[in-house]
Amino acid sequence: MSEAAPQTLVKAWTSARRRLEEARIESPVIDARLLLEAAAGVSRTDIVTDPYREIAPDQAATLDDYLARRIAREPVSHILGRKGFWKILLNVNRDVLTPRPDSEVIVDLVLKSIPEGRTFDILDLGVGSGAIILAILAERPAARGVGIELSPEALAVARENAANLGLDGRIALLRGDWTSGLADESFDVVVANPPYIRSAEIETLEPEVKDYEPRLALDGGADGLDAYRVLVDQILRVLRPGGVFHVEIGHDQSADVEALFKAAGALMVETTRDLADKDRVVSGVKKALGN
Ligand SMILES: C[S@@+](CC[C@H](N)C(=O)[O-])C[C@H]1O[C@@H](n2cnc3c(N)ncnc32)[C@H](O)[C@@H]1O
Repeated sequence: MSEAAPQTLVKAWTSARRRLEEARIESPVIDARLLLEAAAGVSRTDIVTDPYREIAPDQAATLDDYLARRIAREPVSHILGRKGFWKILLNVNRDVLTPRPDSEVIVDLVLKSIPEGRTFDILDLGVGSGAIILAILAERPAARGVGIELSPEALAVARENAANLGLDGRIALLRGDWTSGLADESFDVVVANPPYIRSAEIETLEPEVKDYEPRLALDGGADGLDAYRVLVDQILRVLRPGGVFHVEIGHDQSADVEALFKAAGALMVETTRDLADKDRVVSGVKKALGN
């Protein structure tokens, strides 16, 4: 029996892409490339500049396994165990929400409003993988952070990410139910990306989300607003006078979330849109002393 022709990078990429297309995976070209890069230990540049490089049989077998998992709708981030967010790379798994580009709006707002050398204290409620607060701390060397998370498994991922990024000396990662474990600590900035999907909507989401993301990270109750109802007073309690908050919202929740913060006494409440031009972040300020 003659041996099968050796696999090359370009052949492997093409056949991987075809398999993903046939399975109606949403972004077959990119996913095939990312899975090939990981399976064969090559970079995007290698695939383009050295397309006839052979891949070893065990690398081809690994790619096969990754493709089967992707076709079963496991997200690429879970298969690879990592995801890029803003300018950092994070470890991720089934215990944390895979960080979304949508959440980079909060990072952008904080970085734009605070110059690089300024010292400030920031709190991230529902820290998950650590994406938002770690991206900010990485670019603001004088900042210190606290991240709070209810899920111990998610907290372990955040701790690992903080250590990998060399940021563990500037962040305390604590288990807790929002701010209930904080005594009289206060912050200049509070950020949160709470669960905000309506419970009934979760089953209608794509399998990558409904079958692989933690429910605790998604489920915002009947109208999606349960977490904000609890958070508005808590955020204003732990903010210093004049401090700023930014919370991520669902695209149709701006009016409701703005109303909750205004009713609680927040000032300058406004909504920022994301790159897809959808309402994404509600921000505001806690009244300064003497105002
Ligand atoms: C939408 S995810 C956001 C994760 C991360 N901040 C991000 O943006 O990728 C919401 C996070 O809030 C956490 N969470 C849910 N309820 C919580 C509570 N009562 N107290 C603290 N964290 C909570 C979830 O476990 C989850 O990690």
